[in-house]
Amino acid sequence: MKVLITGATGVVGKGLIEHLVQKQVQIHFLTTRKNQLQSIKNAKGFYWNPANDQIDTSCFLGVDRIIHLAGATVSKRWTKSYKALIHSSRIRSTQLLLKGLQSCKGEHQVTQLVSASAIGIYPSDFDKVVTEEDTVEPTTFMQKVVFDWEKEVAAFQAEGLNVAKIRIGLVLSKQGGVLGTLKIPVYFGLGAAFGNGKQGQSWIHLEDLVGIFSKALSDQWEGVFNAVAPHPVTQSQLMAALSRALKRPYFLPSIPSFLIKLGAGEMSDLVLDSHWVSVQKVLDSGFAFHYPTLEEAMDNLLRP
Ligand SMILES: NC(=O)c1ccc[n+]([C@@H]2O[C@H](COP(=O)([O-])OP(=O)(O)OC[C@H]3O[C@@H](n4cnc5c(N)ncnc54)[C@H](OP(=O)(O)O)[C@@H]3O)[C@@H](O)[C@H]2O)c1
Repeated sequence: MKVLITGATGVVGKGLIEHLVQKQVQIHFLTTRKNQLQSIKNAKGFYWNPANDQIDTSCFLGVDRIIHLAGATVSKRWTKSYKALIHSSRIRSTQLLLKGLQSCKGEHQVTQLVSASAIGIYPSDFDKVVTEEDTVEPTTFMQKVVFDWEKEVAAFQAEGLNVAKIRIGLVLSKQGGVLGTLKIPVYFGLGAAFGNGKQGQSWIHLEDLVGIFSKALSDQWEGVFNAVAPHPVTQSQLMAALSRALKRPYFLPSIPSFLIKLGAGEMSDLVLDSHWVSVQKVLDSGFAFHYPTLEEAMDNLLRP
């Protein structure tokens, strides 16, 4: 099998390529940075630039499936122009990918698109457990971004492709990301929950997320799938588990929401929103998690 991956140089992409290469899958990847074209061992890089509609369409040669992960990080300060980039990097890249595929005029052999999406599509709720069946009526910035992204991704169905959308939770990995950011204050004994600390944190270990993408390919998944661990925790529990794993005290009161909103504005949604997300559909598919509980994940990720 040959797979084309966008956003391959990111945290999820790198983990996924390592896994797929071991399974003898051949990899093509698209990058917006010319200096990254040769950066991934055992994978062939192609240049694209969704901002100006540029794509090297030879990336589709011999490709059976596409995995679409590209998008500007949401962890940088949400200025007006950066918010536009968070949105456009996902929408324009999806549109360009489709345009590129269409330019092959039926000569391609791609049968499936597996796209990243995010649990940020669901409304924040402190009690309700959400499933893939829930209807989404976006109101916040993040919900709108993910909603629009999924809508663009669905357009590949008209090209005859199976389309799977993987709604990813908070990814925990050794490669920095959210854990890298949270680790710093905790390491100095300054770990504290955000807001009332009761927000649902539907997290997932990178290795399990990679396994889910891999199963989506091997089983030709179609439709929406939540990718989170079976045992979500509250924000306070997450910070406490992190402190325990790093053998640091956890005693500080949580940081009040109004202070976080004052400092971070709309971006505070990222830490104050609550998502309790069901992964029953993925479990029903027969997927077995390596790290179903936070303790197991932390132990693996933070053990020296
Ligand atoms: N990590 C999480 O907790 C999480 C949670 C929910 C959803 N997701 C989604 O899953 C996907 C992969 O996540 P990740 O953590 O691997 O992200 P990441 O580390 O930030 O990597 C994303 C990749 O997207 C590409 N990219 C960045 N800006 C771009 C732009 N303006 N136009 C086109 N491509 C651009 C980059 O590749 P090049 O520089 O090589 O082009 C980058 O390596 C993302 O779309 C993310 O939103 C992640």
